[in-house]
Amino acid sequence: MAADTVLLTGQLLIAEGDPLREGPAAMRHEHRGAVLVEGGRIAAVGEADTLRAAHPEARVESHGDNLILPGFVDAHAHYPQTAMIASWGKRLIDWLNTYTFPEEAKFGDPAYASEIAGRYLDLLLANGTTSVASYCTIHPESVDALFGAAEARGMRVFAGKTCMDRNAPDDLRDTAQSAYDDSKALLERWHGLGRAKYVITPRFSPTSTPEQLAALGALWAEHPDCLMQTHLSEQTDEIAWVKSLYPDARDYLDTYEAHGLLGANGLYGHAIHLEPREIDRLAEVGAALIHCPTSNTFIGSGLFDMGLAARMRVGLATDTGGGSSFSMLRTMAAAYEIGQLRGIVLHPSALVWLATAGSADALRAGDRIGRLEPGLEADMVVLDLASTPAIAQRAAQAKDIWEAVFPTIMMGDDRAVAATYVAGRRV
Ligand code: GUN
Ligand code: ZN
Repeated sequence: MAADTVLLTGQLLIAEGDPLREGPAAMRHEHRGAVLVEGGRIAAVGEADTLRAAHPEARVESHGDNLILPGFVDAHAHYPQTAMIASWGKRLIDWLNTYTFPEEAKFGDPAYASEIAGRYLDLLLANGTTSVASYCTIHPESVDALFGAAEARGMRVFAGKTCMDRNAPDDLRDTAQSAYDDSKALLERWHGLGRAKYVITPRFSPTSTPEQLAALGALWAEHPDCLMQTHLSEQTDEIAWVKSLYPDARDYLDTYEAHGLLGANGLYGHAIHLEPREIDRLAEVGAALIHCPTSNTFIGSGLFDMGLAARMRVGLATDTGGGSSFSMLRTMAAAYEIGQLRGIVLHPSALVWLATAGSADALRAGDRIGRLEPGLEADMVVLDLASTPAIAQRAAQAKDIWEAVFPTIMMGDDRAVAATYVAGRRV
């Protein structure tokens, strides 16, 4: 008998389509469901009694009425900002200069980088997040620290060296050439090693010279299977600054486009204040936008238009530590609230989908993570839908699964996470 065959039983939500575009019917509810896990992968998903009868050899881990979902996928975060999350009173550029850059400067010390990387990934797992696309700092050590910590935990992590060669403190600047060389060496070391994926990472146009953007565009052209992540049109002051730094650019996106940094494997964080041309180009090339709702309210950036999901892939993210939470539940709640402010009412099925399959698809990893589907990696979160008295008393009134889940989305946190599984292993 295969010793590592496990049957997890509980309620399931199974994405059979895309509830964000197709509506709630695209997500199936299995009240007495089960996930069969073999060798770190999902082997079968379905009705508990049927799977139990078909696999008498499997060890059963019962999760009662708890809800089993794919592990959450955080599509944009800055792990080096873990220790300065929730810093008061600034907007983007002041916030970067006052809080972010001094903290990121500490990551030249490999011991500090490793301590924070481990702390960060443990916080993610406690919150049910099993994969993340994270920025590191300019220091190659910060990349080794995160991928090393992810390897130790078996996690699928996407990350890259954050490149900056201007408008940053002396100890946080590289050059066009060193950004290319260091990124290339890190890519060759980590990309595809175990569950690691390297992401080419120019921070944003204000902190890169055109030469640096072009160097990273060239690196991306040499490694088109890599993702590229950056920030786009987060705050109006930032956009005005980009215009002054790149007077020939048609718009913010053009600063990337002109340097080989617009493509189908590009991840554009925030993307709040877009011009029609920018939207058309992003849609044409098949790029992904990453919505960071707690960050957008916390730093005062603006209200993302989820209507753009009709035209391109959209992932969901915390943007730790511009975002004010490590929790994808809290992030779903903020996405719901921003939707309300823009007249777009996101159904719970769409919120769950964004935090799992939607983000996985944005990261071009939907064939590996983000769904409860045979063949995919067995990263899962198990949610207690009555984790606090306030949530429990509301969920007790629920008439269907969506009314049972929504209170946990809106009011839940790490107390709702009953278990997290990484590649089939409970952590
Ligand atoms: N734009 C450039 N860098 C950052 C960052 O670290 N956080 C956020 N929210 N926006 C950015
Ligand atoms: Zn960010």
